[in-house]
Amino acid sequence: MSQAAQYGTSSQMDGLISYVIRGWPGWQVILTSLLVLMTYDQFMYIKRKGSIAGPSFKIPFMGPFLQAIHPKFDSYLAQWASGPLSCVSVFHKFVVLASDRDIAHKVFKSPGYVKPCLVPIATDIMGPNAWVFLQGRAHAEFRRGLTRLFTNKALSTYLPIQEKVYSDYFSRFVAGTQANGGKPTKFMSFFREINCALSCRTFFGDYISQDAVKRIADDCIFYLVTAALELVNVPLSMYIPFTKPWAGKRTADAVQAEFAKCAAACKANMASGAEPTCIVDQWVLHMMESKKYHERIAAGEENVTKPTNLIREFTNEEIGQTMFTFLFASQDASSNVLHRLRDENLSVRGGDRNRPFELTMYDFLTYTNAVIKELLRHRPPVIFVPYVATKPFPVTPDYTVPKGAMIVPSCYPALHDPVAYPNPDSFDPERWITGDAESKTENWLVFGAGAHDCLARKYVPLTMAHMVGKAVLELDWEHHATERSEEIRVFATLFPMDECPLTFTERR
Ligand code: HEM
Repeated sequence: MSQAAQYGTSSQMDGLISYVIRGWPGWQVILTSLLVLMTYDQFMYIKRKGSIAGPSFKIPFMGPFLQAIHPKFDSYLAQWASGPLSCVSVFHKFVVLASDRDIAHKVFKSPGYVKPCLVPIATDIMGPNAWVFLQGRAHAEFRRGLTRLFTNKALSTYLPIQEKVYSDYFSRFVAGTQANGGKPTKFMSFFREINCALSCRTFFGDYISQDAVKRIADDCIFYLVTAALELVNVPLSMYIPFTKPWAGKRTADAVQAEFAKCAAACKANMASGAEPTCIVDQWVLHMMESKKYHERIAAGEENVTKPTNLIREFTNEEIGQTMFTFLFASQDASSNVLHRLRDENLSVRGGDRNRPFELTMYDFLTYTNAVIKELLRHRPPVIFVPYVATKPFPVTPDYTVPKGAMIVPSCYPALHDPVAYPNPDSFDPERWITGDAESKTENWLVFGAGAHDCLARKYVPLTMAHMVGKAVLELDWEHHATERSEEIRVFATLFPMDECPLTFTERR
């Protein structure tokens, strides 16, 4: 058909449609458009769903959005139990959940098909150029530089600053109980704060003021960022003032600006020859060593020893943004047990309970480590990791995740698999000592797997051993359990529904 004829046909069609529509009342046009869109939305849902588990039809447009705002842990359990692959569609987003361990591994290890997305608006909150969103070589290179900040040697330089955080907060726990007349106090917000302070101080040492730590740790501020990163959001809500995503974005920007200021102070201090005591110190030191190396090579020097971590210079803003991704990633996660923990931690300190923690003690903390692994298995801080398919992804022989859909490998089901961990819902550190839990490496998805797996795999158990050891030696506490203590609240991570009522006293 000639072009002229084509134009003729299409303008005739346009004319016909506008003639028909002109004859309709406005409400009929709106209703018909809605019906067409609804049918399209439904059709696309059914097409994408294919053979996997999920409702046969979706609630028009929004899908199960209202349930997603306040996710119930039981709903996740039900969703995982519905099939190895299941789906939901919220607004325009199609989400595939993988509960099967081997499929989860396949997703984690298919960087050619998927990339991490956290949640759809995470790129806006953290910045689209944040390193965790990089792919392939660019990601691997950035990550290699950061990995060197978590070697045993580097980790041991952070211990003194962490010891100070624990001392400070343990006194606050005791004072908090005293101020409440010795009555049980909900401690979850204190725990969030110690966790945040620990991260801020490990990243920035004394460059960050106590006031800034407090502001960042403050529930309101940090909750906003977390709340902004719910799995699904109303489209474009980040641009609507006073919504959670809008407030979260402002908070994230303010924290990153504060971090960039700390990076500047760190560069000045390290340039004056200071010893490294925190993560940015180590990072800046590696930049200085790399720069010196390049200068000496450029000056024609020979046999110059290459630094172990040859990296480029990073701007204060890049450092601030990267530490923000760390802060975001580092959110958290009894009688006979306590007795054994005390014995073991006193013994590695040679009977001196005031002796600060040292890296060499770690290898001798067998029972403490078993308790920590069981804690991470029993209540994994990360229950799933959202990825997005960058192209059609044949995740099983029968099902291909459509391009642009979220594919969410789950960690929790593998960690509560009764075959790998008999009686999975009971907290039993013994399974790591006399049992065979240690050999179930495929099920150990606490830190993910593959190219994006957690950078802090070693750091986390080490800091937990440090904190638990110091706490059992210096504090007594009582858990005032309620009927909701074992009920799980999902808010990015897992919380006890009753916010953990406790009383703390100093151990004499
Ligand atoms: C109990 C504490 C923690 C748990 C359970 C945890 C778990 C995880 C998981 C499941 C992932 C995704 C892995 C994947 O996609 O395969 C991850 C990624 C990551 N984690 Fe952690 N994490 C914890 C603490 C931390 C801390 C303290 C830091 C920083 C100091 C950190 C830094 C990171 C980073 C940077 C990534 C992204 C790595 C990349 O994209 O290459 N995490 N973490």
